[in-house]
Amino acid sequence: MHIQTEIKTYLDRTQLSVKDADLLNIAHEAAYNAYAPYSHFKVGSAILLKNGHIISGNNQENAVYPSGLCAERVALFYAASQFPETPIAKIAITAIGTEKEVMQPVPPCGSCRQALLEYEIKFGEPIEIIMAGEKGEVYVVKSVSELLPLSFSRELL
Ligand code: THU
Repeated sequence: MHIQTEIKTYLDRTQLSVKDADLLNIAHEAAYNAYAPYSHFKVGSAILLKNGHIISGNNQENAVYPSGLCAERVALFYAASQFPETPIAKIAITAIGTEKEVMQPVPPCGSCRQALLEYEIKFGEPIEIIMAGEKGEVYVVKSVSELLPLSFSRELL
């Protein structure tokens, strides 16, 4: 099955390219190392940079809930800190539920969309987003701007 809607493409997992399946697998492996004692929702992310490097991350929770950070921003900020001049090609996101299985693709939260958008604009190159759950179909969106219409950006400052 391959349905193109306005922004996302629904894919059967078997339709992913080998490279995209590998990236998703790295995100899945990263999810096991998440620290999510409060939500029991272990998220993993994997960022592919244009220079071929892959950087993974996972969510890090805190007893003071807002002090925690999502998997996407953990990977994104590490990537940006290590490779400040390298554009980002893709990010894969998935999760493991320790209490119930994650049956749907995991989309980035609003704050992560905003953080990703900053680097998409900085480099002028679209960042593709690959989203998956533990099972089922995968969503692919070609750029962060498609996920965050009418966004705030530096022109307003
Ligand atoms: N979380 C992520 O890491 N990424 C997302 O895209 C959605 C939510 C984390 C934050 C929190 O640790 C847990 O998942 C439940 O919201």
